[in-house]
This record gives sequence, structure tokens and C-alpha cells, in this order.
Amino acid sequence: MNKNKTTYGNPIYSNHYELLSKLVSVSKKISAEQNTSNLLNMILQECMIITNSDAGSIYIKVPMNDIDYLQFTVTKNDSIPINFKKKMIPVNFDSIAGYTALTGKIFTFNNMNDVITSLGISHDNSFDQKNKYQTMNMLSLPMKNIKNEVIGVMQLINKKIDANSVISDTSLYSESIMPYTKEEANIVASLSSQAAILLERSKLYSDINLLFETFAETLVTSLDQRDPSTAGHSTRVSKMSINLAHAVNNSTSHAFNAVSFSEYEIKELFFAALLHDIGKIGVREHILFKSSRLSKSEIEVLKYKFMCLELLLKEKGRHCTLTNSEKITLNSIDQYYKFILSINCKGFLTDLEIELLNEINRINYIDENGVTKIELLPPNILESLSIKKGNLTKSERSAIEDHAVFTEQVLREIAWTNELKNVPNIAANHHERIDGTGYPKGLIGANILIQSRIISIADVYDALTASDRPYKTALPIEKALSILQTEAKNNRLDHDLVELFISAKAYNIES
Ligand SMILES: [Fe+2]
Repeated sequence: MNKNKTTYGNPIYSNHYELLSKLVSVSKKISAEQNTSNLLNMILQECMIITNSDAGSIYIKVPMNDIDYLQFTVTKNDSIPINFKKKMIPVNFDSIAGYTALTGKIFTFNNMNDVITSLGISHDNSFDQKNKYQTMNMLSLPMKNIKNEVIGVMQLINKKIDANSVISDTSLYSESIMPYTKEEANIVASLSSQAAILLERSKLYSDINLLFETFAETLVTSLDQRDPSTAGHSTRVSKMSINLAHAVNNSTSHAFNAVSFSEYEIKELFFAALLHDIGKIGVREHILFKSSRLSKSEIEVLKYKFMCLELLLKEKGRHCTLTNSEKITLNSIDQYYKFILSINCKGFLTDLEIELLNEINRINYIDENGVTKIELLPPNILESLSIKKGNLTKSERSAIEDHAVFTEQVLREIAWTNELKNVPNIAANHHERIDGTGYPKGLIGANILIQSRIISIADVYDALTASDRPYKTALPIEKALSILQTEAKNNRLDHDLVELFISAKAYNIES
């Protein structure tokens, strides 16, 4: 006779070694699951298998207005289909689940008539009647956390003799069902409590995740809001990036055969996209938000220089005859000043305009001793005014481009979990371009992670369509998409991703 023979229902666990192996494997499996809903389903399923139960349910304790309730969270039944409805029952002595939660004890009812004798209440058989089912026996177990507090209740119903049988005929129930044993109840109780601890860990993980997510969103929102031109930019880029990643997962195109983003990779992309411009925190604001070639104070100084020059020339003209060039200057001063005002906020300068600027630059006032009294356009002012496209000088552009480096530095300071460890790298490379013309590293082609390429597309699209950028009127969607296609054609943006961005309407973040 095999001394290890047990009475556990499932014949495959014919000895303690097999049962122990099964418990270890279940334990490993549930420990690896971090999604709360999957975890609950898995626990119930495994406990039903271990005990050969035909059905089962899990209730999770939730406080509401100072009263504890049990929320009917997961249910399974191998014999009948169930129309699951989330319902709440109060934690009190009116139900078996409530009784289990309040006392923290394991209850085994191998005859449901025992409920009234043991607990003084009758079993609520409304479910059985509605579904033509019959609860013959039940294990009701508390799910306890590490502090021995009950956080939920698991109920296993109808322990079957044959694990694979389906109990369809209530008249055959007595032949199909066998009693739950005390030892079995203890094993499942310890498993359900391990599950309770994992559930709390999972909830804690979700809470920390949510806390960080909220913190990151609040941080970038306030950073973006320093200037109306960037308000909402990071959030929009993160939404479009996630849309595009889902589109990659759903794509049947051979271009994405080898790519599939896991739930964690999507999360990683979300944080990278949300925080891609965090490095702008390290760029001086007067450069970051520069909206004209010269600042207001620089224009003001220039205005006084023009006024001064006019006064000096007029004064000189009272004492002696002005040269031809001085006469021209005096007559044109007002026009020159207006010209400078007109180009200060202009997107592009023509060659003629640059020429006129150089002409103004040659104007100065030399006194009778040959000393230059007024230098209208000092080198830094001339450099700013002569910017052919946009409003940034070379050094200012380089300071702004440094934000990608700062992004990586800032994000590397965060203790990312292993699943999110690539966030700094993905975010830092959002200005890299396929042909190597991007920054800060000038990476080429496949050296740029697909996640960074996704963010690049969303970033460019948002810059083109944002309605509040200085110097740029918001482009219509079609025009912006056409620019993305041109950028892809010129091998700057990823061609396949741009096409998918357009066909899947990943830019649509209205909801
Ligand atoms: Fe950026």
C-alpha cells in the first residue's frame, strides 16, 4: 500500500510529492502575475483544480462610507455558463461570505443544510434556482494578508469525484460530488492567503505606478505650461505615441512582423514620450521661449540708439554741413528702425533684407575727433537680426538641442524598474533622424530604437499642428501629414511608421 496516498480529490495528486510540486508551481505562477484581475482569475482557477471544485467565487473586501462590503469580483463554473454581475454584499453575519470575513475562519459545509445549524442562517440559494444549479457542498475561506487581516473571501463549490465531469443533471449530483476534507481546506486556505498577500502587493504596485504617473503628468504639464506654445505638448505626444504602438501591434503589414510591444513596453513608451522634453528644464527660459530675433529690451535699446543718432546728426547739421551719406542716414533713420521692427518676428529673411541689414550695420556716428560714438548694431545684435530662418542663433540653437542630453541625464537619475529601464534612452533619442542628421548623437537607421522613432513622429506632428507656436500658424492635418511623408521620403523619419501613423489615424487623440 502506498503510504503517501491521500484523499485529495484530483487523482493526479496521488501522493504528497505530486501535490507539493503542484503547489510550488502554482505559487510560482501566481507570484509572477502583477495584473490584479489576472491574478484573481488564476488563483480561483488553480484552487478549483487542486480541490476538483466545479465552481468558485472570490469576494474582495472594500470599505465604502465607513461600512465594509464584499465585492463579488471573480466567479467560475465548469458546468453552467454564468452571467457575471459585479455586486456587493455587506460584511455581516447574514451570509456565509460575510461570516467568513468577520470571523476569519474556514468553513466547510459538506451538506448545505449544515449552514443553518452552524451559523444560524440559511444558505442563499437564489443563484442555484435562477441557474438550475445545486450547491451540494462548499469551502468558504478567508483571504488574509501579512497582518492576518481578512481582505477577501474565496468560496469553492461542489467538489467533484471526476475532475473532468460536467454536472448537468441535478439528480446525479449526489453521485458526482464528494466531501471536502479538512486537510484540503487548510492547503487551499494557505494558498488563498498567499494570493491575498500578492493581491496587496499588486495593489501597492498599481498605487505606486499611479502615483508616479500622476507626478510625471503634473510635472510635465506645469513645465509645458510655462509657455503657451508648448502647453499640452508632452501629453499629446504621449497619447499619439501609444496610439501608434497599438497600431504596430495590430498591424498585419510585414514591416511590423517582428515587432510587438508588451504591456510593459507600452508603459515604458508612455513614460518616455511623456518625459521626452523634461531636459528643457535645463535650458534657460529666454532661449527656450524666444519668440523674436531681438528681445523687447534689446529693441528698446536700439530705439534709443536711433533716436540718439538722429539728435546727433541734427545737432551736427546746425554747426556744419553734413556729408551726403549723413544726410541719407538722417532721412532714412525712421525707415531703418521700422524695417528692423518688421523683420524682428519674420520667419524667413530674403537676401535683400540681409543686404539692407548690412547697410544699416555700416551706419555709425564719428565725432570731430574721429571717435565712434554710436555703434547701432553690435555684433551680437547683428547676429540675431541676420538669422535667415527662425529666431535662434547658432549658440542658442545648440543650447536648445542640449535638452535631449539633459533629458537623458534627468531620467537616468530615476530608479526605474527593470521593465522601464529603457525610458532614458528612448526619450533621449527623440530628435535622432534615420539619415544621421538628428541630435544629440547623430544615430543612424536601426541604431535608433523604434520607440524613439515613434516619439519623433508624434513630436513633429504636434509641433506642426499645435495652434499656439510663435512664428508658426497651426497647419491643417493633411498638410502636417504630407510634411511627415516628405520627411520619411527624405529618410529622416521612419517610412513604415509614418504610413501607419496616417492610416491608423494615430494622431487622433480626441477621446
Ligand atoms: Fe524635444
